[in-house]
Amino acid sequence: MKNSKKTVLITGCSSGMGRITALYLSRCGYKVYAGSREPYKLREIENESLVPIKLDIRDFKSVENALSDIKRVDVLVNNAGYGLVGSVEEVSEEQMLEQFDVNVFGVFRVCKAVIPKMRENGGVIINISSFLGKIGLPLLTFYNSSKYALEGITDSLRHELKPFGIRVHSVLPGFFDTNFARENLVTNKTTFSEKSPYKSIVSTLAPTLIEQINNGNDKIEVAKLVLKIIEDENFKARVAIGQKAKKFIPMRQILSDEEFEDRVESYYNLDGLK
Ligand SMILES: NC(=O)c1ccc[n+]([C@@H]2O[C@H](COP(=O)([O-])OP(=O)(O)OC[C@H]3O[C@@H](n4cnc5c(N)ncnc54)[C@H](OP(=O)(O)O)[C@@H]3O)[C@@H](O)[C@H]2O)c1
Repeated sequence: MKNSKKTVLITGCSSGMGRITALYLSRCGYKVYAGSREPYKLREIENESLVPIKLDIRDFKSVENALSDIKRVDVLVNNAGYGLVGSVEEVSEEQMLEQFDVNVFGVFRVCKAVIPKMRENGGVIINISSFLGKIGLPLLTFYNSSKYALEGITDSLRHELKPFGIRVHSVLPGFFDTNFARENLVTNKTTFSEKSPYKSIVSTLAPTLIEQINNGNDKIEVAKLVLKIIEDENFKARVAIGQKAKKFIPMRQILSDEEFEDRVESYYNLDGLK
């Protein structure tokens, strides 16, 4: 796709990968609509090429309103998401539904509103998934399965939208230093209490994950990759980015499920835990 003020919509832009991608693409000549539940947080980077818009992907009305004044969307980056941390038996139904409402149904809501605006001229949809969309970890069952679902969305939508010249891609980041661990990991209180039967998994895994995210790769890499995907019509369907993703995704492809599980358990010191 040639870069002549194409229009990009990105979700979840108040921080992290969304914010930096909005800034980067706007500086590369794109007109970016930066969606956020709190668009005032984008005021200091707002300009003619970077327009903050109020967008809550949990609410279809909000999505429709956000898109009502945008005639054409050439690129959609489904970026907004958060991580629920808790055991399956302890997480409440409300928490469980909320995780999928944002990470999965939020993507559907935005796609439903954007595809009609993209269909005539073609376009690109980029789903920011996770390397945890291909790897299971304890306490992250809800988050991981939401990202596995996103992988399925990419695979099916690629077929469905190909006849209209719309490419769909999945980006699987490893750990990146964003607000994710600081603000958008939602922990279940019961799982994190002293009484929880999962407390040894919590004390082994949670600090490691937080440390690895906070010391993760630089989010600008994601912004640069998004630009590459937009501009290369032949870009592959799915791409891993960041150290952890590049370590685990190829391993997943060559090992059996059980061998891979052993590697993950040994890497995160989960073997022998009870
Ligand atoms: N950081 C990592 O290590 C990592 C690794 C793999 C994948 N990812 C994925 O990358 C994407 C971006 O995350 P990030 O790392 O940039 O983290 P971030 O800085 O925390 O940004 C996440 C954005 O998602 C939106 N969001 C969070 N909770 C939400 C909710 N309950 N409802 C609606 N929107 C919500 C927020 O947007 P607004 O406040 O602007 O609405 C927020 O700015 C996410 O989909 C995440 O799963 C991150």
